Amino acid sequence: MNRRILAHRGLSHLAPENTLAAFTLAVNMGVDWLETDLGITQDEHVVILHDDHLDRTTNGHGLLTTQTYAQLRRLSAGAWFDPRFASERVPNLQELVAFLNRTGMNANIELKSVVADNANVLADSLVRQFAKALDAISPNCEIIVSSKNPVMLLKLRQLRPQTHFAVLFDRYSLRDDWQLTMQACGAEYIHPQAAQLTYAQVSAFKRAGYQVNVWTIDARDLGNQLFNWGVDGIFSNCANEFLTEKRSLPH
Ligand code: G3P
Ligand code: MG
Repeated sequence: MNRRILAHRGLSHLAPENTLAAFTLAVNMGVDWLETDLGITQDEHVVILHDDHLDRTTNGHGLLTTQTYAQLRRLSAGAWFDPRFASERVPNLQELVAFLNRTGMNANIELKSVVADNANVLADSLVRQFAKALDAISPNCEIIVSSKNPVMLLKLRQLRPQTHFAVLFDRYSLRDDWQLTMQACGAEYIHPQAAQLTYAQVSAFKRAGYQVNVWTIDARDLGNQLFNWGVDGIFSNCANEFLTEKRSLPH
């Protein structure tokens, strides 16, 4: 059985999340799926960032959507993790596309909800640019686009219906009517949170014909249990530790 192991924000236990260093380490360790998150700056540059705010993963402050791209690129996206990564920058969408095309890596790219006074304008711009970028990714790379926000998926679906969609559910949003959201978004994949997920729920997803990728799992026992339940993939911060063929860290 093919078990999909996705490096959550890159190999984020060994390098700062959502940086080219974390992505490169995932490839070098033999991981073939990457998970990453898209946001947008005030001046409509699409970039790779998990949080709405800059504070946790850069040496900047405030909302991403209040920063220009030039301001953002002056920040370190790695110093918070380790001084060795101080030169890492918040990558942009074009750098992600180039990385995927160069390495042949598969990716789950997550569309984050936009937090801004002009959120609709920025969300439309993000999705429009992303639709174009998806066309520039090599067909050798499998791409899944996910979001916790169905509206983001529907916007993209209008522009690019051939996209492979996943709906992300957390333990609170996963209710009995989950399949309505899946159908509305034309999703092929369901991405539930591991916490409080049950065997009965996984069985129902599989019976309905969906592929199931669960987030975020760093413990081997839990990963094995989920695969025994029939899930197709897991997101992990330490994806390399789930590979059957282990590689050591490059020097
Ligand atoms: O895509 C799986 C996972 O990344 C979803 O949650 O908050 O880590 O982006 P988050
Ligand atoms: Mg994510």
